[in-house]
Amino acid sequence: MKTIISALLLLSIFASSSTLVVGLVSCRPDQIQALTHFKNEFDSSDCNQTDYFNGVQCDNLTGVITKLQLRSGCFHGTLKLNSSLFGLHHLRYLNLSYNNFTSASLPSGFGNLNKLEVLSLSYTGFTGQVPSSFSNLSQLSILDLSHNELTGSFPPVQNLTKLSILKLSYNHFSGAIPSSLLTMPFLSILDLYQNNLAGSIEVPNSSTLSRLEFMYLGLNHFEGQILETISKLTTLKYLSLSFLNISYQLT
Ligand SMILES: *[C@@H]1O[C@H](CO)[C@@H](O)[C@H](O)[C@H]1NC(C)=O
Ligand SMILES: *[C@@H]1O[C@H](CO)[C@@H](O)[C@H](O)[C@H]1NC(C)=O
Ligand SMILES: *[C@@H]1O[C@H](CO)[C@@H](O)[C@H](O)[C@H]1NC(C)=O
Ligand SMILES: *[C@@H]1O[C@H](CO)[C@@H](O)[C@H](O)[C@H]1NC(C)=O
Ligand SMILES: *[C@@H]1O[C@H](CO)[C@@H](O)[C@H](O)[C@H]1NC(C)=O
Ligand SMILES: *[C@@H]1O[C@H](CO)[C@@H](O)[C@H](O)[C@H]1NC(C)=O
Ligand SMILES: *[C@@H]1O[C@H](CO)[C@@H](O)[C@H](O)[C@H]1NC(C)=O
Ligand SMILES: *[C@@H]1O[C@H](CO)[C@@H](O)[C@H](O)[C@H]1NC(C)=O
Ligand SMILES: *[C@@H]1O[C@H](CO)[C@@H](O)[C@H](O)[C@H]1NC(C)=O
Repeated sequence: MKTIISALLLLSIFASSSTLVVGLVSCRPDQIQALTHFKNEFDSSDCNQTDYFNGVQCDNLTGVITKLQLRSGCFHGTLKLNSSLFGLHHLRYLNLSYNNFTSASLPSGFGNLNKLEVLSLSYTGFTGQVPSSFSNLSQLSILDLSHNELTGSFPPVQNLTKLSILKLSYNHFSGAIPSSLLTMPFLSILDLYQNNLAGSIEVPNSSTLSRLEFMYLGLNHFEGQILETISKLTTLKYLSLSFLNISYQLT
């Protein structure tokens, strides 16, 4: 009986498209309703109307939405503080890249999505500071905020100890980087290219903890004995330092 009711709800919400219903059969009705509210917060006239929720996955035991991947350039509008998105607490993967959120700041509501393992917001037009609530996202393994207009000091990632990929390139972050960054236990790709980051780069003597393999530091304002410091990172395979004002004392 429960199944029939859910199926009917699905059909009434997406009556125009049978392919959507097939894709979302394992989703709970309240989850689909939240998703529909989310979609209606935006202008989606540029979307391929038959598959804008192609990238939705639900847990087939509990029916909660665990994955949401929007198509590039589909949604257009402001992501509001009270967006229905922030009610999707069970999301583990969220990719909104290449959708235009029209120069709004990042809502603190992202901090509610604390089961996220992947969060990609590259090329989304967000401005301003990364809210402190991001420090709640302790399960994140991939965080991509690149190619936006983000400002302020380094985002609050110190507690995101599961991070393996951190991309902040092509923004306007300023100030120093946290001292613990280069020795985060799983961090293997660190992309800080083209920001206003400055100061020296410190690697603790316990640098054998570092797993860094790819590091992009170029087009920032780092200074000091960078090469000496970085030579302690024995796992590095690739390093970009272009346009940094550094010197190296040959001995
Ligand atoms: C829209 O998406 C459907 C399903 O993925 C696809 O078959 C169709 O060709 C797409 N239409 C356009 C105009 O891209
Ligand atoms: C959920 O569905 C996927 C694909 O349909 C399947 O591979 C997986 O085993 C299912 N999981 C459970 C717990 O039923
Ligand atoms: C997010 O989606 C874009 C395409 O819209 C894709 O290029 C990118 O690899 C995705 N990121 C992740 C972390 O899956
Ligand atoms: C969000 O707030 C706006 C006013 O700022 C209101 O019009 C809208 O109904 C609210 N949406 C939800 C889902 O609560
Ligand atoms: C995003 O939308 C704003 C407002 O409509 C527009 O000015 C801007 O050019 C758009 N950006 C992109 C990358 O499409
Ligand atoms: C952090 O997550 C908890 C749930 O574990 C939630 O109650 C809280 O509001 C979140 N904090 C922020 C700042 O988003
Ligand atoms: C990081 O976690 C510690 C211990 O759980 C907590 O005291 C601290 O406030 C957190 N820092 C941030 C920036 O959230
Ligand atoms: C790190 O090691 C160097 C010598 O190898 C020593 O001079 C320095 O004081 C050490 N730093 C810390 C923080 O232990
Ligand atoms: C580069 O650093 C050197 C030594 O700190 C300093 O004298 C010089 O002015 C700097 N050049 C630029 C372009 O910042």
